[in-house]
Amino acid sequence: MYETVSAAFQKHFGHPHTVAAYAPGRVEVLGNHTDYNEGYVLSAAINFGTYFLVGPSSDTTCRLVAGDLMAEVTFEVGSPAPVSENTWANYVIGVVAGLQAQGQTPTGFNAMFLGNIPLGAGLSSSAALEICSGLALAALYGMQVDPLDMARIGQQAEHTYAGVKCGLLDQVSSLFGQANALVMTDFRSLEVQTLPMGEDAAFLMCNTKAKHALVDGEYNERREHCEAAAAYFKSALDHPVSALRDVSMSEWQAHAASMDPMTAKRAAHPIGETGRVLAGRALLDRGDLEGFGALMFESHASSVDYFENSCTELDTIVNAARKIPGVLGARLSGGGFGGSVVALVHPRDAETVAHAIKIAFTRTHGHPCEISVITPSAGAHVLDARL
Ligand code: GLA
Repeated sequence: MYETVSAAFQKHFGHPHTVAAYAPGRVEVLGNHTDYNEGYVLSAAINFGTYFLVGPSSDTTCRLVAGDLMAEVTFEVGSPAPVSENTWANYVIGVVAGLQAQGQTPTGFNAMFLGNIPLGAGLSSSAALEICSGLALAALYGMQVDPLDMARIGQQAEHTYAGVKCGLLDQVSSLFGQANALVMTDFRSLEVQTLPMGEDAAFLMCNTKAKHALVDGEYNERREHCEAAAAYFKSALDHPVSALRDVSMSEWQAHAASMDPMTAKRAAHPIGETGRVLAGRALLDRGDLEGFGALMFESHASSVDYFENSCTELDTIVNAARKIPGVLGARLSGGGFGGSVVALVHPRDAETVAHAIKIAFTRTHGHPCEISVITPSAGAHVLDARL
């Protein structure tokens, strides 16, 4: 893919690129909607990602090309305003705006990107684009940007240019991923640890290709409920609460009946998830993959019962997975309302499990879901800088 996009860059712009960067997508393994509640998440960077190639232009114009569509968007480097057509460009334009708060962007640029992360699959193709463009452009402009600041620049692009009030999970996972390891992030301290995955575990990503209407509005609404719940507990509990991370499941049980019912219902999910991530980490340390998988099934049930961010297509896969021999656990991964299920299997069972899931999905929905084996992979990096 890198050779393809390098050649296409040269052909389109008539000169070679000077900087290239790569950023992977991510899979969220346990800890759903906990990032913006300052809880914990176990995730991994994946073996699908995006390349961003760039060179300086001779003036202040930025030309940005999506290598798969060969569609081009131009804008002035000094006024990175969102566009209403070819809205994929907004992720990069938002990153340019974010970099301008960190340093000077005196010239425009010619850039092209190409990736293989399925779009809308809940694998964070947009975060990968933000991070590879951020790394490449920072290198082009000679800026030193701390990785967590780079993650925040990507997040800000989502907030102000795409309208999704996401947390930092996608960007942090893309930046801090490591081969054959899970990333465990504490979204309060932003401390990131890596946990080696044994050779006995593999992940299947089962892409439903479903994307339900109002997804972004639903995401922001869930976040508002969580913030309202945190505000309730802040005044109701006699210890400091600044986010749902500070609330235990027993405190939730004691107070749920006194709260606004929908706010209480939503809050149960991230509170439970934070506990499950901590329990899951301990199980992984002991090599207990069965126990870990059971927590993944619990996580999905909590999405269905409390957060209502699942959908029929996701439930078809998880319900089938509960009965398919060889599946250790399965749950929706990422924001929800469509996208993908991540299933944990022993590598020897991957093929038969994938086949059985496809049959079950086709029986209900009339067409198969798309399944790929996911390998926890290295995080984002600059791979070529000829400045
Ligand atoms: C999306 C968001 C993340 C996170 C997950 C749910 O991927 O971008 O910040 O909230 O949903 O865990």
